[in-house]
Amino acid sequence: MSPETITFTLNGQPARLEIEPDTPLLWVLRDELAMNGTKFGCGRGLCGACTVHLEGSPIRSCSLPISAVAGKAVTTIEGLSSAGDHPLQKAWVAENAPQCGYCQSGQIMSAAALLAARPNPTDADINAYMSGNICRCGTYPRIRKAIKRAAAEMAAAAVATWEPGQDADAAEVLS
Ligand code: FES
Ligand code: FES
Repeated sequence: MSPETITFTLNGQPARLEIEPDTPLLWVLRDELAMNGTKFGCGRGLCGACTVHLEGSPIRSCSLPISAVAGKAVTTIEGLSSAGDHPLQKAWVAENAPQCGYCQSGQIMSAAALLAARPNPTDADINAYMSGNICRCGTYPRIRKAIKRAAAEMAAAAVATWEPGQDADAAEVLS
């Protein structure tokens, strides 16, 4: 396949490459753009180590051709917060979630999408949503605790900034 010009937004910044359009996004992130926080695990969409966000939704970057992100916004673990201080990242440290660490950036990206969709998840919600992210070290209990810690911090922040008459999103956080 001949190289094509692909442009997209990566962590809020424009990215432009001359590349074969069937190249997996993960290859582009790691080998072309030095975004090495996203990991290669199975390469077949089965383990979740390569999870990033495309337009805010979690996707497996090992299985998505770069042509599919043209004109769209990709967020990696490096772009989740400007200073590595997203509530999930802080909670991961506080709960000592990683063991070897290899799966954890994918875990955090899936957890971020979970909390965006369900700000106060139960254990069952977490188990169901995170089931595609495999941890060979078995850190699942600490991951659950970290997600709940982050959810609590995010809910407290929402309460602190909430004002009477604010929209339904804030009301949902309070429920
Ligand atoms: S490396 Fe992409 S899902 Fe395993
Ligand atoms: S911390 Fe080792 S694979 Fe998850």
